[in-house]
Amino acid sequence: MPIRIIQHPKKASDTPLLISFLVLGLFLSAIFWYGDRLHAIDAAELTPQQLYNTYCAACHGYEGEGVESLKAPPLNSEGTLYEYADGTIQRAILTGGEIMPKHDQILTTTQAAEIINYMKTWWTDEQIASQALLSADDPMEP
Ligand code: HEC
Repeated sequence: MPIRIIQHPKKASDTPLLISFLVLGLFLSAIFWYGDRLHAIDAAELTPQQLYNTYCAACHGYEGEGVESLKAPPLNSEGTLYEYADGTIQRAILTGGEIMPKHDQILTTTQAAEIINYMKTWWTDEQIASQALLSADDPMEP
């Protein structure tokens, strides 16, 4: 048998390929994550309850119970919100208060109205009825 010097072909390393996949994977994850974040803050797709939970609950509580330490008054049946007409409440939400931020850049008048109707689900029947009479003179903007 002749002696042969076997020339092993230089074996290509898998490492660069694996790194490419890893980088591509991270890149795609980042895009999906960021897309999801954008999606999460698209107020146009939120239900009234989600709007309230997103923009109001941190200060006023998830059940509208208010947060004393933040000086945020209750908006449920324990508070006095039902003593104000729809239009007054809507303007308060959109223009803000001394402490409360304004929301006119974040919410449309329609979304503010949706939030108000959601908050009314916390009120008693009597509160809803008496507030409806008040609102006849000062209704919400659509
Ligand atoms: C950063 C905290 C904060 C956020 C966020 C916030 N509020 Fe307020 N809100 C307050 C405070 C504090 C007051 C009391 C008035 C003031 O000092 O601004 C108030 C007052 C109000 C009032 C008047 C209540 C009354 O009895 O006089 C309404 C209505 C109201 N908020 C609704 C909302 C709604 C609806 C949202 C969400 C779109 C919201 N607030 C978001 C803190 C907040």
